[in-house]
Amino acid sequence: MTVDSKQHHVVLAITGASGAAYSLRLLRALLDSDRHVHLAISPLGSRLLAEELAMYTVDATRLAGAAGDRLLIYDFDDLGSRLASGTFLTNGMVICPCSSNTLASVASGLADNCITRAAAVHLKERRRLILVHREMPVSRIDLENMLKVDAAGGIICPACPGFYNRPESVGDLVDFVAGKVLDLLGVEHSLIRRWQPMDDANRPAS
Ligand SMILES: Cc1cc2nc3c(=O)[nH]c(=O)nc-3n(C[C@H](O)[C@H](O)[C@H](O)COP(=O)(O)O)c2cc1C
Repeated sequence: MTVDSKQHHVVLAITGASGAAYSLRLLRALLDSDRHVHLAISPLGSRLLAEELAMYTVDATRLAGAAGDRLLIYDFDDLGSRLASGTFLTNGMVICPCSSNTLASVASGLADNCITRAAAVHLKERRRLILVHREMPVSRIDLENMLKVDAAGGIICPACPGFYNRPESVGDLVDFVAGKVLDLLGVEHSLIRRWQPMDDANRPAS
């Protein structure tokens, strides 16, 4: 992939929390919207892809097909890639799903792998950083870490699909979360039906 600062570059990180399907839906939608996606996966993120989606190897052609030239996959341990530098201009970063471990690292400013370093760069450069955290229940430590990330300018977007659009499949629930993240990134999409209030005639009597 050639990197042109005028193009739309998004960093997508997959860590070891449940919900690998969200990340692949997001990846597909970003590529469909002509974004260039810079993908980093933690070792436990790879395990989740295997456990939840039977995806045992990850390569650009398999993940992106014909859009493979707009997908660049990074080595988790490479702290010398362009993701480690604020000079590499992006339109934002999403960690999806985001484990409590990665949330804690981001909250405390650790930058010891390419995901946490890229997140630290997005915060210091005042760029959009979205953490799609997944854990249940959340501990007080998670809550405090969320507050820290929020105070530093990050967005905590928990993987909590809504049911008001009457989902009919797991895919609908996945689309809801991916669509919410795309909204936060400012990427147009048609994954979710926008909320339409009920007609007065259909409202339950109060
Ligand atoms: C099958 C499986 C599911 C997991 N689900 C979660 C989860 O939903 N949330 C979470 O915070 N950690 C979860 N974990 C634990 C994390 O993967 C673990 O804390 C790991 O250190 C995260 O590393 P990472 O942040 O570098 O990906 C899960 C682990 C496994 C093996």
